[in-house]
Amino acid sequence: MQKTEQYCEKKSSALKNTHTQKDAPKYFRSTSDGVLDDLWVKLSHEHERVASLFNTQSLVYDACCGIGPFVLPALIRKKPRRVIANDLNPESVKWLSENVKINKIKPERIEIHNMDANLFIKTKIAEDVVRLMAEESCSGEENRVEAHVVMNLPAYAVNFLPAFRGVLRKFKQEVDKVPEEKRWKWNVYCYLFAKSHVDVPDDWYEQEARRMCDEKTKWERSLVAKCHHVRTVSSRKEMFCVQLELPYDFLLTEPLPDDTSVEIEPEEAEEPSNKRVKTSS
Ligand SMILES: C[S@@+](CC[C@H](N)C(=O)[O-])C[C@H]1O[C@@H](n2cnc3c(N)ncnc32)[C@H](O)[C@@H]1O
Repeated sequence: MQKTEQYCEKKSSALKNTHTQKDAPKYFRSTSDGVLDDLWVKLSHEHERVASLFNTQSLVYDACCGIGPFVLPALIRKKPRRVIANDLNPESVKWLSENVKINKIKPERIEIHNMDANLFIKTKIAEDVVRLMAEESCSGEENRVEAHVVMNLPAYAVNFLPAFRGVLRKFKQEVDKVPEEKRWKWNVYCYLFAKSHVDVPDDWYEQEARRMCDEKTKWERSLVAKCHHVRTVSSRKEMFCVQLELPYDFLLTEPLPDDTSVEIEPEEAEEPSNKRVKTSS
């Protein structure tokens, strides 16, 4: 068995900025790999930022959950009504289950899957939202429920966006019964790297991040609602969290043919970010 460590003890100084010790989630990790530890700390503000967008009416779906840095703070502090987490790596989901236990979270508050994110989106997320929304639209109560789908696999996640196009088509009958004003909003948080091979103005990177998403959704208009800069990875590589709002005409349209031909890019070594030559727009 691999060595484990209690993460929050080792990195307690880094976590102090964002957690009070009392309600800080405790994490077990499956390795003591220094690069990953470093990345975790770099992203801790981002995990907190996204978790802060949830509330008790949120449905939270993490398509690439790792060992739980989005879903654990959300479960502990925001108490969303539904959390479903998924990761392709069986080790990640094993350690997420362990983290649920050590944080004394009731197991029924989270459902955990081990599958490809494309399949997770097309099956688990679609079925869950439609089932709950159809049940509650009949209740007459005013609910402000929103579905939030997090996809933090920045070297690849943009390729999961086509899976949302037409994802509710096979549930059209159920969705049609829900009046438009009662349909729940879909937010997707897609992490990605915007890269250039030449020096470009700083604002080029955000435009590129938006363009990459628009290219994948192939919709008549951009579905990008916000673009949040997460960190500078290297001199010409920026990481963003692009937030998309998906309308029901997009979710119910004809799906695109499956394209599984895109391969995940190997991560490049990080370079100091101060190498960029500033160019003006
Ligand atoms: C950058 S890590 C992010 C982990 C965690 N969400 C975080 O924010 O620290 C990306 C995760 O995506 C998972 N992953 C890779 N390919 C996947 C796929 N096709 N479907 C679902 N998860 C995948 C990896 O196992 C890994 O845990």
